[in-house]
This record gives sequence, structure tokens and C-alpha cells, in this order.
Amino acid sequence: MNIRLSEILTPSKGVMALIMLFTMLPVISIGAGQQDSPRTPRVYTNDDIPSRSQSAPVGAASTNEASKDSETASSNPAEVGKVAPFVPTPMDVVEKMLEIAKVTSADVVYDLGSGDGRIVLTAAEKYGAKAVGVELDKDLATESEAEAKRRNLDKLVTIIQGDLFLTNVKPASVVTVYLLQAANRKLSPILEKDLKPGTRVVAHDIRIPDWKPVEELSLKSDGVQHFIYLYRIPDSFKQ
Ligand SMILES: C[S@@+](CC[C@H](N)C(=O)[O-])C[C@H]1O[C@@H](n2cnc3c(N)ncnc32)[C@H](O)[C@@H]1O
Repeated sequence: MNIRLSEILTPSKGVMALIMLFTMLPVISIGAGQQDSPRTPRVYTNDDIPSRSQSAPVGAASTNEASKDSETASSNPAEVGKVAPFVPTPMDVVEKMLEIAKVTSADVVYDLGSGDGRIVLTAAEKYGAKAVGVELDKDLATESEAEAKRRNLDKLVTIIQGDLFLTNVKPASVVTVYLLQAANRKLSPILEKDLKPGTRVVAHDIRIPDWKPVEELSLKSDGVQHFIYLYRIPDSFKQ
């Protein structure tokens, strides 16, 4: 099934009402002497985020002020610093994101929050680009690194297991993101400061607040509408 990040974490008012109702159900049923009432119909919540064990972020090349305030209030050490759950971009959308950015072998593609590595692996495999994935989740980072080796792409693909807000993005000529809006908001001053003029930033589904796309497109994947926003440094934020 094709699920969108925006649907999971920015639910409509109707879905919010359902979430509140189902959150209250156990309280209501315990009060009435009933137990274990099944929660149907099922709605997507943060419980759907796959739980994976991971160590604290190791960080990468440089530090940024913005990273000091953590965006997640989770008490689970494995979740600290996590600004989006793992929801993979469908492969046809990945292809379009790289296409709209006109990626070539001369590019250095950074995927910030790289999940299973599908964007960096495709950028390397299809276009011969150098590609760097930054992923907080240790298991996902390890998996994607192993997949790069398996496909003989390890000379082109680097996976950094760490916090994207602590990563030096200066070498990038293309940056891809599929994060929540608050994360994009926190990231944009870093991108504005550190990316070279001409660098393309491609966002899946969630816009970069206050930036103006130079191009946008929407496509259906598995019956679900997806949006892709292409930004260019500095045109997209300097009017
Ligand atoms: C919506 S998924 C996108 C995965 C991949 N980019 C794609 O489009 O298929 C977001 C990813 O960001 C990772 N993530 C969340 N917060 C992070 C952080 N602070 N630093 C690095 N990765 C992070 C999550 O673990 C998750 O794998």
C-alpha cells in the first residue's frame, strides 16, 4: 500500500477526531467494566512508525546551531532527534525526483533522512552520481550501506549514520528531502547558508516553508497523488 508521510502526520480534522476518539476508548471501556475493545476502523498514527533499535547519532562533518534544540520530545533514546518516520518514497516518485533535478554523473546528491537508501542508490546506479545518504536510524543506515556494497555502488555511495542537522551539506549539488514541515523549516536556514548557488533541492510531498519552487509536479503512484517541488539556490528564497 502506498502511504504518504503527510497523511500519517498531518491528519485531516476528521482523522484527528477519530484519533482522539480511539485514544479515549480504553479509558471509556475500562470505566464501563469492559476490556480490550478492538480499535476498528484502524487509523494511522505515530504507532505505525516502525520501531527499530538504534544508537545515539554519531553526527558528521560539522555542527549547526539549529541542531541544538531537539525537535522530538521522545523519551526513547532511539527516537531522539528523529524529525520524520521512515516512510519510503515510491520508486517511480524517486525516479521523477532525480529527473526533475536533472541529475548527472557530475552531481553530488545528498538525501537528508535517507531511509533505506533508495534515492542515493538510484542516483548512483542510474546516473553515476556521487551520492550521500544521511540517516539517523542505525539499522536503516547499515542496510543501505550493505545494499550499496551488494550493487557495487560503494565507490559512489556514502551513508552517514547520524543527524542530518549536524551534517555538512556544503559538497552537495542536489539535495533531496522527504521530511515533515517543521523539519524542513528548521533545515532551510542551513541550506540557505551552506549550499552553493545553482544547487537544486527537491522536496517530496512536503514543501520547504517560505521557499518558492522553480518547478513543481504531481504524479499518481499506486493510486496515490504525490507532489514534487524543485527549488534552486538562491533563486527560491531570494526574491
Ligand atoms: C520519510 S523517510 C524518507 C526516506 C527516504 N528519503 C525516502 O524518500 O524514501 C524520513 C527518514 O528520515 C530519517 N530521519 C528522521 N530524523 C532524522 C535526523 N534528525 N537525521 C537523519 N535522519 C533522520 C528517518 O529515520 C527516515 O528514515
